[in-house]
Amino acid sequence: MSRPEFDNFAATYDELLKDPIRDGFAGNPAFFHQRKRDLIRDYFQRNAVDTKRLSYLDVGCGKGELMSLLAADFRRVAGCDPSGGMLEAVQGVDVRVQTDPNRIPFDDAQFDFITAVCVYHHVPVAARAALTREVRRVLKPGGIFAIIEHNPWNPATRLIVKRTPVDVDAILLYPGETQSLLRDAGLPVRATSYFLYLPEGIYRLAGVVEDLLRHVPLGGQYAVFGRRERA
Ligand SMILES: C[S@@+](CC[C@H](N)C(=O)[O-])C[C@H]1O[C@@H](n2cnc3c(N)ncnc32)[C@H](O)[C@@H]1O
Repeated sequence: MSRPEFDNFAATYDELLKDPIRDGFAGNPAFFHQRKRDLIRDYFQRNAVDTKRLSYLDVGCGKGELMSLLAADFRRVAGCDPSGGMLEAVQGVDVRVQTDPNRIPFDDAQFDFITAVCVYHHVPVAARAALTREVRRVLKPGGIFAIIEHNPWNPATRLIVKRTPVDVDAILLYPGETQSLLRDAGLPVRATSYFLYLPEGIYRLAGVVEDLLRHVPLGGQYAVFGRRERA
């Protein structure tokens, strides 16, 4: 099997993400992970779910920033990624290398909640449906899978992706494609939210505006939540 692509980027990953638009949008790159944490908290709050009793897996967790931010929210947190180089940065979390990128190294029906954040645009188009079915396998009945992706409807996102070295192979997913992936894998869509409209400084003052815009499909990124039926 060939060397995982992100092993080539792991040592200089944060440097490789630098971009004038991206850096101007957020004073601190941690903002991008914090926004995802807030979005996930918001989803569960809206559905009146107490996450403290739930288990959470981040597929394609990379350096594990989102897992760290959500560690205290869940009973159990775990991650996996094909790149051992990226996982070296993760501490204090059960992380496993995907020796086969199409296989998730956990048993069936283990998790209540799973995320894949900025992963699918690196997965070959022909492998995306099988990866989604594999996620469904490790999800408990009633569990939620959230795919978070760059939004190709946003011109700034497209420009940043075009010139970011780690995105050299990226094929972005339109929200409708992501919704179909979930649906076709037996994970009917429960919600779609668009976010990253406002730069960090404005968001911190007027985050409620982003909340009002969450159904408008122009945010820099979006999240689609699908649920494994109980039957
Ligand atoms: C852009 S990074 C995102 C990392 C992290 N999720 C984040 O948001 O910071 C993409 C990650 O997807 C991983 N990846 C690529 N193909 C994958 C697959 N088939 N299954 C799981 N992860 C994969 C890469 O190794 C890399 O760590």
